[in-house]
Amino acid sequence: MFVTVLLLLVTLCAQGGSGEGREEAQRPGHVSMVIVGGTGDLAKKYLWQGFFELYVNQVSSGNSFSFYGGGLSPADQATPVLFEILKAVSCSKDVSQERCALLKEQYLRLAQYRQLKSLEDYQDLAKHIEQQLQQEGMTEAGRLFYLSVPAFAYADIADKINNSCRPASGAWLRVVLEKPFGHDFRSAQVLASQLGSSLKDEEMYRIDHYLGKQVVAKILPFRKENSKFLDPIWNKHHIERVEIVLKETLDVKGRIPFYDQYGVVRDVLQNHLTEVMTLLTMKVPMNLSSGEEVLHNKLQIFRSMLPIGKNQAVMGQYQAYKAEVQQELNKTKDYISLTPTFAAILAHIDEAQYEGVPILLISGKMLDERVGYARILFKNDIFCLQNHNSIHCKPKQIVFHFGHGSLQYPAILVSKNLFKPVLMDSEWKEVTEHTDVNVLGLPISDYYVQTPTKPREAYSDLISHIFAGRKNSFINTENLLASWGLWTPLLSSIASSFPRIYPGGSDNGGLLDVCVKGKDIRFNSEVVIISNDHMGGTSVKDFQVMQGKFRSADMVSAWAEELVEKLAADIQEAAEAAVLEVGVFHLALSGGSTPLALFHRLALHHFSFPWRHTHVWMVDERCVPLTELESNFHSLHDYLLQHVRIPYFNIHPMPVQLNQRLCVEEDGGALLYEKEVSKWVNGSSFHFVLLGVGYDGHTASLFPGSVVGESLVALTESPVKPHQRMSLTFSAINRAHRVALLVMGKSKHELITQLSRVKENPVKWPVTGVKPADGRLVWYIDYDALLG
Ligand code: BG6
Repeated sequence: MFVTVLLLLVTLCAQGGSGEGREEAQRPGHVSMVIVGGTGDLAKKYLWQGFFELYVNQVSSGNSFSFYGGGLSPADQATPVLFEILKAVSCSKDVSQERCALLKEQYLRLAQYRQLKSLEDYQDLAKHIEQQLQQEGMTEAGRLFYLSVPAFAYADIADKINNSCRPASGAWLRVVLEKPFGHDFRSAQVLASQLGSSLKDEEMYRIDHYLGKQVVAKILPFRKENSKFLDPIWNKHHIERVEIVLKETLDVKGRIPFYDQYGVVRDVLQNHLTEVMTLLTMKVPMNLSSGEEVLHNKLQIFRSMLPIGKNQAVMGQYQAYKAEVQQELNKTKDYISLTPTFAAILAHIDEAQYEGVPILLISGKMLDERVGYARILFKNDIFCLQNHNSIHCKPKQIVFHFGHGSLQYPAILVSKNLFKPVLMDSEWKEVTEHTDVNVLGLPISDYYVQTPTKPREAYSDLISHIFAGRKNSFINTENLLASWGLWTPLLSSIASSFPRIYPGGSDNGGLLDVCVKGKDIRFNSEVVIISNDHMGGTSVKDFQVMQGKFRSADMVSAWAEELVEKLAADIQEAAEAAVLEVGVFHLALSGGSTPLALFHRLALHHFSFPWRHTHVWMVDERCVPLTELESNFHSLHDYLLQHVRIPYFNIHPMPVQLNQRLCVEEDGGALLYEKEVSKWVNGSSFHFVLLGVGYDGHTASLFPGSVVGESLVALTESPVKPHQRMSLTFSAINRAHRVALLVMGKSKHELITQLSRVKENPVKWPVTGVKPADGRLVWYIDYDALLG
C-alpha cells in the first residue's frame, strides 16, 4: 500500500508544484509518526493538523509515511474518535480543493489507532512497523514519538520506547515532549535524569510552543537583519525598559487539578516568557541555525540574571478561583489556595549592556483582554518645545506582537521615529494599509509594520522543525535547568504568600498596575481586596522573628524570607563592627542551595555592606573545577560575588585544582589554603562563619565518620557525588568569632527533631561538633524546618 500511495502523490505534487523543500540531514525512507495521547485535546486541536501540513509539504520529498494515534483505550473504542479528528484537518489556501481532498484521503489511509499501554503494545507496534518495511522493501528513515500525555507518564513511556521501539541503526529516533518538565529545579533534574537513562539528549525535543510562534521565531532574525540600526541602541543607554506580556481573558476552570499545582509562574513565565526574554537579550548568534550557538548564548543570559526574589514579584488570584478550586478538588468551603493566576516580575540582567534596564514579565488569567507581546521601549532623547504631536516627540518602541489584542494578527512594529526595518524574508510582508487601531499607545500609522505572508500555527512549524531535525527551537536539558534555577528560589519564597485577589475582566481596573522602584516591584495601589473568608479559618502563623534556644545555643526562627533578612542584617552588623574595630571583615561561606537566598538578599538589598573591606572565604568546596555549576564557588560567584563591588584580591576560592588535577593530597591544596587563612586572618579566627546542615547531620564537608586532624583545612570524602571535598575543619570553625547555622525547608524538619535530641557526637552527627571556643553560635531555623 505504501508504494501505491507514494507514487500517486509524487505525480500529484509534480502537478501542484508544492513541497517546501526543508533542509534535511537524513536519508530518505519511511517515517513512522506516533502521537501517544493521539485522541487527547492537544492532538485534536493542533497535532494532527500539524502532521497533516508536514505530510502535504513532504509528500514529494522521497519519504513515505505512516501515522499512529496511540492511547490507553482499546482500538475498537478509540479508532472512530481518531478518525473524527483526522477528518477535520484542513489545507492552506494555496492547495486546490481537489488536491486537498486527495491528500486528506491518503492521510486517513496512512493513519491508524493503536492501543499503547503495556510494553507488549509497544513491542507489537515495533513489529508492525518492521513487518511493513519488509513487505514493502523500504528503507527506514526514522521514528517520531510525540508524547502528548501528562508528564508523570514520560519516564515510563520513554523507557518502553527505548526498550522496544528503537529503529535499526541509520534511522533516527525522535521523542517529543510537552511541558511541564518538572515543577522546580530538583524535579526537573530528576525527570531529566530519568529521561536521560532512556533517550539521548539529541533524541529529545522539548517543545515550548512559543518558540514556534511566527513572531517569536522571527526575533533573532529581525535583530540580525536590522543590526545596523539596533546595535547602537540595544543597550542600557537607550532602552528604558522591556515588557514581555501575555494577558488572557479565560479562567482555568476544568484545568484546576493541573493548574493549582503549577500557577502562572510555572505555567507561563518559567517557559514561554523566559524564552522570549532570552531571545530579546542574548547575543545574536553568528549562525542562527546553529542549535549549539543559540543555546550557548541563551545560557549566558541565564548566568547573568540577577536573582528573582519576593521583592521582584507581585502575585494575584482571580476572585472566582477559590470556588473553582473547592469544587474541582473536592474541598470544603474554608479551603483556600495560594496559587497565583497573575504575576508581574521584575528581572534584571547584570551585564554592562543591560545594567539597570528593568525587564517586566507579566501574565495572568481573567484579565481585560487577550494579547501577547514583547515591547522594547526606548528612552526619548528629544525635547519638544512646542509641537508635542510631531513624530519625533512620540514614544519610540519596537513591539513584537504575538497575536490577538487590538491588532488581531502577528506583527513586528517599529515606531517610525526609530528606523525603517529591512524586509529580507519572502515569508514576511510590509503592511501599509492600516485600519484605525492603536497599538500600545500609538496609532498603527505611527509604526512600520511587518507581518507573515501566511499565518501558521506554532505547532505546525515546530513539527516541521522536528522532522527536519532542527534543534534550535527546542529546549534542551541545560536550558531547562538554567530556567528552573532562575525561578525556583522565587517559587519557594512565595509558597506561603497571599496573592492579591482581583475581580476579573475589565473590573480589575488599576488593581493590577505595578510600579518599579529600583530593583523592586510592587502593586501601584495599596488597596488589597481580600474577601474576609479568604483568610478565615486558616492558621496564618505569626510572621515575626522569634528568638529562642536550640541545643543550648541561641536560635532565631521565622518564615524563610524573614529569616534570611534577619541573617543578612546580622552579617552586615558583624561586618560593620569588625571593619570599625580592625578595618577588615573575614567571612567564610558554605555551599549548597540553602544559602543562595541569603546571597541573593545580600546582593540586592545590602548596598551599604562594607564589601571593599570584606574578605570572602570558602567553608568547603567540591573537587570540581570552579567553572563547573556544581562548584560552591561557582554558585557563590553567580548569586553574590559578581553583583557586589568586592575587590578581586579579597576573594579566596579553595585551591581544589592544582597541577591540572583535582584534590590530590600531594598537591597540598588544603595546606595552601590553611597558609592563606593564617596569612590574612588574625589568629585564623574568621569574624563570621556561615554553615548549613545536611540530612545526615554533616556540616561544612565534615561527614559522619570522617576523621580530620588538627589542621584548619582538610580533604574529606562525601558519601554523595562529587565524593571528594575540601573543607574547613572544626579547628578552623571553632576559632571563629561568630558561627551561624542556617537550616531551612520542611525536608529538614525530621533532622531538626533528631538534632534537638541527640547528644554531642561529632563523629555520628558532625554538626554537634560546632562549638566556637570564644565565639557565639546562633542557629537560624525557618518555621518549615522547625515546625514541619
Ligand atoms: C500554555 C499554558 O502553555 O500557554 C496556558 O499552559 C496558556 O495556560 C497558553 O493559556 C497560552 O498560549 P497561547 O498560544 O494561547 O498564547
